[in-house]
This record gives sequence, structure tokens and C-alpha cells, in this order.
Amino acid sequence: MKRVAILISGGGSNMVRLVEDMQAQGYAAPVLVASNDAAAAGLEKAARMGVPTAAIDHRPFGKDRVAFEAELLKPILAAEPDVLCLAGFMRVLTPGFVEQFAGRMLNIHPSLLPKYPGLHTHQRALDAGDAEAGCTVHEVTPVLDDGPILGQARVPVEPGDTAETLAARVLVMEHRLYPAVLRRYVAGDRTPVLL
Ligand code: GAR
Repeated sequence: MKRVAILISGGGSNMVRLVEDMQAQGYAAPVLVASNDAAAAGLEKAARMGVPTAAIDHRPFGKDRVAFEAELLKPILAAEPDVLCLAGFMRVLTPGFVEQFAGRMLNIHPSLLPKYPGLHTHQRALDAGDAEAGCTVHEVTPVLDDGPILGQARVPVEPGDTAETLAARVLVMEHRLYPAVLRRYVAGDRTPVLL
């Protein structure tokens, strides 16, 4: 059984969907949910689902990403994951960290990559007048929001949309896409999931 660790920074709704899907389908075991913020609401949700949690506050490390990552790595390595899923994890990871999980780290990003890497994806889609928006699950490489695409889900942009209404429509699809990709990924199938 593949072991999956998940990194979060906030509410963790994608993490909840991943854990629920693994627990319901039994194709992988959620072995850790870790956050850079001890106040992340997702930690409590993970604990309620019976998943071990860890919190490493990034703030005392200031700009020293390597020192923060060294601490973050301790609970992750102890959990011995086969796959590491970023699910709303809002810290940029250094190439050194990423390379340790080459070929076994996934991320979900709220845009149709390669459009709009980085932040404020929904506002940028609206500002560009895009007719559709969506989300992408990709393998993580040292380049931010880059790497082989493993799945995408599209939604229409509706008249009168704000960044908030569009984000909510995309999030519904994130919750379907990420578990579908993870299921394939742990089975060794990297054919993109298209929703
Ligand atoms: C999700 O929309 C995810 O795509 C996004 O943060 C949200 C987390 O929500 N991730 C990024 O922007 C990564 N740069 P969640 O905590 O409820 O899963």
C-alpha cells in the first residue's frame, strides 16, 4: 500500500477530499498531514480523520527557507511517504527539497497551467477576459507551478463573476480532480485526467 503525506497551509478542503478518497477506496494510506501554520484549520480536520499531523511554523526561520525545510523534512521522512501531495501549501519550496521527492510530489494549482502560475489566478483570468478557468494537478519540479501535467478540470467563467465566485466554482472541481489524479498516480498511470 502506497503511503501519502500531504502538506497544507489553511483550511485543507483538498486534503480532506484526498484523505476521504484514500480511506474509502483503500488504494493508499494517508500517513501525515503537515502544515507551516499550527493554526491551519486543516490540521484539526486531519486529526479527526485519524491522520497524524505536524506543524512547523515557518516564521521563526525568516528568509532561511533551507532551515525551515530541514525542520519540515523531519516529520515527513519519519512518515516514510511514497508520495507527497501539496494541497494549498503556500510556501515556495527550494530546489534541494523538491529534488528529494523528484517524481513523487504532486501539487494542485487553481488555474489552467501554463496560464497563471503564482498567486491571484482567478483575478488574472477575469482581467484577461478568459471564457474558462480551472485547476491543474502537476508533478512538482524546481520551477514554480511547472512540471508535467497530470490532470486538468475546466469551468466556464460566468457573467458577473468575481474572483471569489470563480474560486468557489473551481474549488468544486479541485475536489474531484485531485483524488482522481492521485488514484491513477499511485497505480503508476500518468495519463492526464481531464474533467
Ligand atoms: C486551493 O484552491 C488550491 O488550489 C490553492 O489554495 C487553495 C487551498 O484550499 N493552492 C494554491 O494557490 C497553491 N499556490 P484548501 O486549503 O481548502 O485545499
